[in-house]
Amino acid sequence: MRKKIVAGNWKMNLEYAEGIALFSEIVNMVKDEKKGDQLAIVCAPYIHLNSLAQLGGTTVAIGAQNCHQKESGAYTGEISAKMIKSVGCEYVIIGHSERRQYFAESDELLAEKTIIALQNGLTPLFCIGETLDERNNGSYFDVLKGQLEKGVFGLTAGDFSKIVIAYEPVWAIGTGLTATSEQAQEVHAFIRNEIATKYDLEVAEATTILYGGSCNPKNAAELFAQKDIDGGLIGGASLKSRDFVDIVKTFNS
Ligand code: 13P
Repeated sequence: MRKKIVAGNWKMNLEYAEGIALFSEIVNMVKDEKKGDQLAIVCAPYIHLNSLAQLGGTTVAIGAQNCHQKESGAYTGEISAKMIKSVGCEYVIIGHSERRQYFAESDELLAEKTIIALQNGLTPLFCIGETLDERNNGSYFDVLKGQLEKGVFGLTAGDFSKIVIAYEPVWAIGTGLTATSEQAQEVHAFIRNEIATKYDLEVAEATTILYGGSCNPKNAAELFAQKDIDGGLIGGASLKSRDFVDIVKTFNS
């Protein structure tokens, strides 16, 4: 059975007290809603991580949104995977399209970040996704394949089995323009097939593949009902406790 995951990505939002307040609400609400085999994760800005990890307990797991590619050293302003792990985080988003776009993070850099995260016991939520141009000109399968090959297909099967993939079409992020369930399922099936070709069927079947991009309580059920969609990576809707928990609840209905 693949792990079913709903992960929130708060991005660069919420002051410290606001984050604590939102997260406390989420933990209280999720306690009553979550089924045993599914997982709720909140990926917060660095300043929140320590406190949230203590508040989350076994109910909601915590992730960071980025890490540096080196173990430690003279990299002023950066945060290492080891530091993230040390405050009780279990997850880290790697390769979000906003990092690729605004911080020029290359596939090669993201491969390094993935390895350092794994070495420090963090589970990478590794993001891939095509732009609107790439979708419209029909090159999106090649783009996604390239992102997988350069970013994570250098991993051994053992290490690959520890990561989660998130498909986030760039044109659907923060735009209110969700991929249809058919569009998302088509890509998720493609990703799983690429994993099977690179590794084997068993690894492919065990890989959790999340969908992200304008996912909300209204469209989550149809998306998550698709055979190759194992949950979501939620931006805007994760900033409202009721919406986020309603998306988590989708797996129960
Ligand atoms: P939205 O849900 O706001 O579209 O953001 C998706 C996302 O980027 C999650 O990482």
